[in-house]
Amino acid sequence: MRNKVLVTGGLGFIGSHTVVCLHEAGFEPIIVDNLSNSEISALQGIEELIGYSPAFYQSDISEFPFLSKIFEDHEISAVIHFAAFKAVGESVEFPLKYYKNNMGGLITVLETMKAYNVNSVVFSSSCTVYGEPNQVPVLEITPMKEAESPYGATKQMGERILRDNASWCNTQCLRYFNPIGAHPTGKIGELPLGIPNNLIPYLTQTVAGIRKELTVFGGDYDTTDGTCIRDYIHVMDLAEAHVKAVERLIGNQQLGSFEVFNIGTGKGSSVLEVINTFEEINQIKVPYKIGPRRSGDVVKVWAETNKVENILGWKAHRNLSNMMKDAWNWQLELAKKTSNT
Ligand code: NAD
Ligand code: WQD
Repeated sequence: MRNKVLVTGGLGFIGSHTVVCLHEAGFEPIIVDNLSNSEISALQGIEELIGYSPAFYQSDISEFPFLSKIFEDHEISAVIHFAAFKAVGESVEFPLKYYKNNMGGLITVLETMKAYNVNSVVFSSSCTVYGEPNQVPVLEITPMKEAESPYGATKQMGERILRDNASWCNTQCLRYFNPIGAHPTGKIGELPLGIPNNLIPYLTQTVAGIRKELTVFGGDYDTTDGTCIRDYIHVMDLAEAHVKAVERLIGNQQLGSFEVFNIGTGKGSSVLEVINTFEEINQIKVPYKIGPRRSGDVVKVWAETNKVENILGWKAHRNLSNMMKDAWNWQLELAKKTSNT
């Protein structure tokens, strides 16, 4: 019998790719998502990729009775908890919305797990917990700075809540750097609703003609070419890290109840390197201009990956060219879907 893994937020960007990878690794994914930041079309993409329709519950994870129903229906071996709001700027404008959904959601997930004796969870954390680091690359033991946004605070608090529950709950806490790209088939990818804030969806929409021009936020930073540096990670590599984390939990291989890993490539890329790589691999120009700095931007951050490679046994295999190719392919597929509706 295949182990069942409950994936909260399983129709979202990272969740949908993880569902596919879980299936490929021999698990049975069970999805719960309230579609607050995703569309049901993601389920169709998943179905096409895995060849069947996985169990899907359209409900809010903050509702204990709804969540309990899933645990009644299925013997869950582990939970991957993606469901949360993630827009940094929006969290500054509507902090209560973020604290309510991200903290309330996590707490209800944990209460339900406890009630049903499920004690393994993978938590979506973020490199945002490090803030502007004093030193790069950042290690898992690098001290956190005070969160710059309510969103960042929800990730720090989420980690704290899980640490405080380590007596009964085993956690794999994954701190993602900058996830981008899409499934190479173009059947699933990131669905930015409204005007994107993040670099890659803004870039691909600009090249597709939906936006006029990409503004590079700042060209006078103290970096190799003056633009900010990030550790971009292919969403498929990231999804595979979740499979490793689940296997570690189910196989009882943890060294402690709360383990934290950086999930990045270990390599930083500047905004201009991203643009150049996109142009080169896709043979298409990106209309852009250098504009003013965006307030609150970290100048440079990338991951130290020794711990995750040596202990979790995971390493990113896809490079920036793969990410740019798959991101563009996804944008083209999206355009086809929209023109057909
Ligand atoms: P996403 O918005 O694409 O996916 C989240 C999914 O959760 C969405 O489908 C949304 O509808 C669902 N959801 C939200 N609140 C819910 C609720 N209360 N009940 C049920 N479903 C709910 O985001 P993503 O990029 O896939 O991110 C997944 C997780 O990873 C989030 O926790 C996010 O904070 C974290 N993360 C994301 C990034 C990134 O850059 N994408 C980086 C670091 C961490
Ligand atoms: C990347 C780079 C921008 C848009 C965010 C969250 C973080 C994490 C990942 C969840 C930066 C530059 C961007 C544009 C640009 N998410 N840029 N023009 O800010 O690194 O991280 O997503 O946990 O918490 O803050 O990602 O994609 O917005 O920016 O020049 O139109 O691209 O300045 O250097 P960021 P991003």
